[in-house]
Amino acid sequence: MIGKLNHVGVATPSIDASVKMYKEMLGATSVTEKWAMPEQGVWVCFVNLPNSQIELIEPYGEASPIHGFLAKNPKGGQHHICFEVEDIIAARDDMKAKGATVLGEPRIGAHGTPVIFIHPKDMGGMLVELMETPKGDAH
Ligand code: CO
Repeated sequence: MIGKLNHVGVATPSIDASVKMYKEMLGATSVTEKWAMPEQGVWVCFVNLPNSQIELIEPYGEASPIHGFLAKNPKGGQHHICFEVEDIIAARDDMKAKGATVLGEPRIGAHGTPVIFIHPKDMGGMLVELMETPKGDAH
């Protein structure tokens, strides 16, 4: 059921500083504007790579779920990894049937399609996001 690697989620205390690093240190040429996702408690921006994306996430608001991560990793770091799936409900039910801890119900993610998160304890220590492949779009 696992599909393409869609993106690697990277938490940062400053998207602006991270974008500068990706552009000036690594030569990234395609970076989206950042936008707020208040329901998720994050600012988001994507660095487009030839085969994937880096999702930069910065806390939005006091209740942001990534404050805890940044308290432990003040410079930021890899936060989650996102794989595409065909059907988010089928993926959720399959994960639950296999005993994994699914965090919350499917909600609309940064690509406009539903996503779920699987607890790192069931995923070899990584927070895993499963995202429904956008319809009619190769990426
Ligand atoms: Co993500």
